Amino acid sequence: MRNTIIAGNWKMNGTRAEAETLLKELLPLLDPTDNTKIVICPPFTALATVQTVTEGTEIELGAQDVFWKDKGAYTASISPKMLVEAGCRYVIVGHSERRGRFGVPEPDFDSNILAYFGDSDETVNRKLRAALANDLIPICCVGETLAERQANETDAIVSGQTKAALVGVSAEEAGTVVYAYEPVWAIGTGETCASEEADRVCGVIRGAIAELYGYETSEAAHIQYGGSVKPDNAKELLAKPNIDGALVGGASLKAADFAAIIAAAP
Ligand code: 13P
Repeated sequence: MRNTIIAGNWKMNGTRAEAETLLKELLPLLDPTDNTKIVICPPFTALATVQTVTEGTEIELGAQDVFWKDKGAYTASISPKMLVEAGCRYVIVGHSERRGRFGVPEPDFDSNILAYFGDSDETVNRKLRAALANDLIPICCVGETLAERQANETDAIVSGQTKAALVGVSAEEAGTVVYAYEPVWAIGTGETCASEEADRVCGVIRGAIAELYGYETSEAAHIQYGGSVKPDNAKELLAKPNIDGALVGGASLKAADFAAIIAAAP
């Protein structure tokens, strides 16, 4: 039986002072006997603060991205070893906000630029393998845009992104990866994917893992849903057989909401 993993992706929110305030509100709201795994992914600059404030608690630390090289002339990049040294156990790779699948261009951007950061299937795969090679658990995000959903391409996109992320990854490693189904149209929009559909697409991801590695590996893998997860929809989503957790954006920035989502885990 897979346990539930609830991860908070703070995105570009949280100065060190804000991180400390939020965690001090959150910690007393958590039930220490609960076996739900909790991961917090703050901005790089707040990793040390989150580590210090959560020391001795059940909260584990994650980063929001990683570069695949160990070191070198890669201005502004952070290596897997740096994340391990900073206390990270998890790292998000392939978030749609970094993949170039961020649906709506900024008004002051060239309309051809749909991405801020341009991650591709190939760079996501490199990041995922570099994380695994350094004993970090990747949280690998996949998901379709609204246009792709409307064109009935959801399953092909999600399955294709999953398989592309896993090129060169062993079955044993693939079973330890956390996968996150994040439909791009449901991120930060208040629009949640209906729980039946979210469960179905998480099943598509599990199917893609099974095609590559077999049933056992696919059953071992944790698959989260992400996209406007809130206290009032968390219970229904987390009760679904293929949904083993949530990757929470906006609601992870409110202590009471994040605690309620954690408490909603089966
Ligand atoms: P929201 O929960 O704000 O929709 O964000 C989801 C997400 O992108 C988590 O990685």
